[in-house]
Amino acid sequence: MTRKECVRRILGEFNAQPQHDSATAWAPANIALCKYWGKRNSELYLPQTSSLSVSLGDLGTQTTLSIASDCDMVVLNGHKVEPENAFARRLSAYLDLFRGDKPIFFHIDTANTVPTAAGLASSASGFAALVLALQSLYGWSLDGCHLSILARLGSGSACRSIYHGFVEWQAGIADDGFDSYAEPLPETWPDLRVGILTLSTAEKPIGSRQAMQHTLETSTLYRAWPQQVESDLPLLRRAIAERDLHLLGQTAENNALAMHATLLAARPAILYWLPESVQSIRTIHDLRKQGAAVYLTMDAGPNVKLLFEKNDVECIRERFPKVAIVSPFA
Ligand code: DP6
Repeated sequence: MTRKECVRRILGEFNAQPQHDSATAWAPANIALCKYWGKRNSELYLPQTSSLSVSLGDLGTQTTLSIASDCDMVVLNGHKVEPENAFARRLSAYLDLFRGDKPIFFHIDTANTVPTAAGLASSASGFAALVLALQSLYGWSLDGCHLSILARLGSGSACRSIYHGFVEWQAGIADDGFDSYAEPLPETWPDLRVGILTLSTAEKPIGSRQAMQHTLETSTLYRAWPQQVESDLPLLRRAIAERDLHLLGQTAENNALAMHATLLAARPAILYWLPESVQSIRTIHDLRKQGAAVYLTMDAGPNVKLLFEKNDVECIRERFPKVAIVSPFA
């Protein structure tokens, strides 16, 4: 099945004509506590394993989609993006999936409330916001499962950004991916905090999409990854149900470090860490030795995210003065 066939199957019963001239939607960024790392189908962005994330409250993307006259136009954070730019091309290619038979063009005005280049996947909130804007522009009434599948076709992790709070993406087993979508968990955790340490804004040596494919193809440690996920997911679910920060933090930290271990064992190896990443990890470990309950996670980049609770906010700010703190359940 191609992405276009998948979209047709979902939208078959809906009118292909936009119902409005313009529509705006917002979606949160998310950080995975158990990572999505490796695809079983690169066309449909079907993952090798399930994953679990927490959405980042008011950090995310707001997108206004309007009908344009003769070509697509992209505005990112208030600045026009050239059509040849990789970002604009990726958006236009995604919108091709929805254009139907008649030529139709879009003006996409998108803005991130994620700290710029903080290593948070703005593509996750970006594609989720775009799908929600499309739904309102076209007047579809798709349920969360279908919206999540459509967002997945833009970027895997985007399927989790359709929801707030804790979200689990079931890998599914079907070839067409119709059982591979995200669902929210019912639990909340008002005292949970996520700290974002922006350690570098330099461009990454290799993007996460390429890195996960390279890892899957060449890393001997990748063979152990599905087992890692299988043991981490039930621990995370239990930690969330019992609001057990130690279990949540330790499992998420171990999962992220295991993902980076698969990268180090790839040939050639991929090392995202900077001296500042290592320094932050050591500081977090020192803080833990001194009794603070703070844990870390990292995505495919050098930046470090902290997991802790409200009562440790002051201590975290003292050690990491530049930290941006998010309350996912505020
Ligand atoms: C390390 O969702 O950006 O952040 O599906 O190829 O677009 P594509 O990849 P993407 O990968 C995210 C990888 C990760 C882990 C995660 O968010 O689960």
